[in-house]
Amino acid sequence: MKTKHKARPRTIKFLWISELRAWPFTAVWLFFFCALFLVAGCREEPPQANATNSTEVTFKPQEMADALHAVIAANREQYSLQLVQRLCIEEKVLNATGNWKQDKALPLPAQMLRMESEAVQQKGAEFHYVLRSLWPINPKNAPETDTERLGLQFVAEHPDTNYYAAESLGGRRYFTAVYADTALCTACVDCHNRHQESPRTNFRIGEVMGGIIVRVPLEF
Ligand code: HEC
Repeated sequence: MKTKHKARPRTIKFLWISELRAWPFTAVWLFFFCALFLVAGCREEPPQANATNSTEVTFKPQEMADALHAVIAANREQYSLQLVQRLCIEEKVLNATGNWKQDKALPLPAQMLRMESEAVQQKGAEFHYVLRSLWPINPKNAPETDTERLGLQFVAEHPDTNYYAAESLGGRRYFTAVYADTALCTACVDCHNRHQESPRTNFRIGEVMGGIIVRVPLEF
């Protein structure tokens, strides 16, 4: 009868020989891993968020303004189409009014933009944005600077082209961009054309009704 004691040396011998045979492979693997670590160690560090080296990504003021406008305009468009147009005009289940709190109604698209812009300012943003028009229902939305006036006139005549200029306000230089604000749906034109305070009553869908003005500071 074979004992466990006799079987042991054979196993040990077998293992030892196999380890010997594996040495060339082990050496190849070791070499491979060392080479891998060396290559990884020599690789350039990925750029950090606060990096100041040449890999830092910089944005031009115009790119910054265009990106901000894309978000602002998309938000304004979706609010106007999915809430105001759908619920007030199509479903007729709500109204959009200037006194939206008392009336338990939706805020006007212009009020939404102003509330959002003010909320961004309260969080300490350096950039600004505002809705203006050459035909304002609310006189406070009339152009306040020459750049705003020129920009609004330009986008009214060239709805597909943005207006860019540099201007100084309160001792600080800004990159100012003016983007056409167009009538997206019947809610826009119906309300403005029927409003008692509206200085213009012949807006049509697709026409420029005003402009979104985005200001990015050029000095910090
Ligand atoms: C239910 C009425 C209503 C609807 C719908 C509406 N507006 Fe207005 N809009 C107003 C009123 C009232 C103001 C002024 C509000 C304020 O400044 O508090 C205003 C302001 C504006 C202004 C700023 C100049 C001004 O007239 O005071 C622009 C530009 C404008 N709206 C464009 C649009 C566009 C584009 C749409 C559709 C996407 C739209 N509006 C939908 C009533 C409406």
